[in-house]
Amino acid sequence: MRIEFLKSVDSTNNYIQKYRGGGENVIVCAERQSAGRGTKGRTFLSDAGGVYLSALFYPDLEAGQAFRLMAHAAVSVCKTLEGFGAHPAIKWANDVFLGEKKCCGILIENFLKENKIYESVIGIGLNVKNDLSSLSDIACSLREVLKNCPTVEEVRGKLTENLTQKSTFEEYLSFVGFLGRRVQVLGKERYFATAKRVLLSGELEVEKDGELIKLSSGEISVRLT
Ligand code: BTN
Repeated sequence: MRIEFLKSVDSTNNYIQKYRGGGENVIVCAERQSAGRGTKGRTFLSDAGGVYLSALFYPDLEAGQAFRLMAHAAVSVCKTLEGFGAHPAIKWANDVFLGEKKCCGILIENFLKENKIYESVIGIGLNVKNDLSSLSDIACSLREVLKNCPTVEEVRGKLTENLTQKSTFEEYLSFVGFLGRRVQVLGKERYFATAKRVLLSGELEVEKDGELIKLSSGEISVRLT
């Protein structure tokens, strides 16, 4: 496994592209990103004080098993946070929250060959001590919830270690939060429903007007209400 550290880069997900096809697992970490990318084409605030990394893996999974990568990334983050004494919860599919605010975003970009996930770039942005005052109503950092906050290097080291170890679906379920909550479903249609459970397939089951509906993480996200 190659691990590379950068002072600054536009986006670790962009930078790691140069290693694609090499067959070697790689992790690229940056102290800050000038153009951090989020899901749905959004930008991801990436000032110094956070952990920003991308991991390139060759997972050899069927295309339909992409959820396993999302679950693994989220579990790796949760184990890391728990190890420092925090109490993280996953908002399906793979946002990690501390209390009611998001502390970590995950952007996974998979590359397919013959219906298999041949390469996967798992990008993780975890707020440790970075200034989030411009997003304070929706985002938080580890520093805000811990009396003794670890250093960025300590968090990065533990996260890297957890990413390279295996995780299970049971671990994912143990960290899933917000079930029983009213959520707004954001897909082709938008509606309010109650989050019920996460199925082995990775789908979220919600209840709307007495009807159970399965949502696929590839197409749909939910917002807490
Ligand atoms: C999201 O919540 O929208 C996902 C954010 C993912 C951010 C990480 S930071 C490291 C990697 N590089 C990027 O440009 N994005 C991901």
